Amino acid sequence: MRCTALLVLAPALLANAFNVVVSNDDGWAEQNVRTLVTTLNGAGFSTVLSSPAENQSGTGSSDEEPETVGSDGCQFGSCPPGSPAVGFNATDNKLNYVNSYPVTSIKYGIQTLAPKFFGGKPDIAVTGPNVGSNLGLATLFSGTVGAATEAVKEGIPGIAFSGASGTPTAWNARTPSYSTVYAQLATQFTTAVLNAGPKPYLASGIYLNVNFPDSSSSSCSRASDFKFVLSRINTAIPIFTGKDVVTCGNGGRLPTESKVVGTSGCYVSVSVGKASSKGDASAAEQQVVLNRLGGVFSCLP
Ligand SMILES: *[C@@H]1O[C@H](CO)[C@@H](O)[C@H](O)[C@H]1NC(C)=O
Ligand SMILES: *[C@@H]1O[C@H](CO)[C@@H](O)[C@H](O)[C@H]1NC(C)=O
Repeated sequence: MRCTALLVLAPALLANAFNVVVSNDDGWAEQNVRTLVTTLNGAGFSTVLSSPAENQSGTGSSDEEPETVGSDGCQFGSCPPGSPAVGFNATDNKLNYVNSYPVTSIKYGIQTLAPKFFGGKPDIAVTGPNVGSNLGLATLFSGTVGAATEAVKEGIPGIAFSGASGTPTAWNARTPSYSTVYAQLATQFTTAVLNAGPKPYLASGIYLNVNFPDSSSSSCSRASDFKFVLSRINTAIPIFTGKDVVTCGNGGRLPTESKVVGTSGCYVSVSVGKASSKGDASAAEQQVVLNRLGGVFSCLP
């Protein structure tokens, strides 16, 4: 009995050292992001949610001063009409909305909420899991990627998570199984990034774009069914595009993230991107991630 309790406690104590700002673009009241917050908290992280009051899917890196909530209230009735421009859940003040864009929301999380709750900067910023994939050129328009790259521009390591399965679901509906699986995978991956060694957890200017494949088949229904694969964001242009990191006998060319999530099995793509362009990082920058996280990655069959 005593022994079991200790085993359960150990990872919680480890993760407790880490402070995380969480955001997304589907809105603060969407299930995926709430399930991620709950799962991170359960793993011992300290989290603060700072997300748009409304669905801001596809708003990229837009950023504007938050405004008083309009006559339709926040999404899914999660705040009343005329609510303040920024606000929080009355019984859990770490759940915050910002009535503006994802980038505005994560800036508020990093600059205002993190000092208040963590006494300083967060260790990491994670966004999503987005409802729907953010693959290749879609990264340019994604608010989930926009928010993660904004964190990186502010000197905070940023990871964008997106999942192929599911539809927008209110926070107070029954939690869909894909939300649970994606939250577990995102927590597992975030833990791996933070536990891989001393700071910096990611090199400056670098973000990670992580896409979970469809989770609706019984063969991809548990977190333990999935494997992480190092990928590239955009399709390489012959001759023009520089080499990728050498791994998995790839001759210096990583599979695209679309190829990884589209491969039969349950393969999660992890791409190393530049926050400035949202496109692929260099082979040397991919190498740094591979060196730190090598044990996390598998090869495609
Ligand atoms: C606020 O938090 C309470 C307690 O955790 C929960 O019951 C309620 O559904 C939450 N509402 C929103 C909009 O987050
Ligand atoms: C947000 O809006 C986009 C279209 O603009 C839609 O595809 C998506 O499902 C919506 N998400 C939520 C959480 O309502």
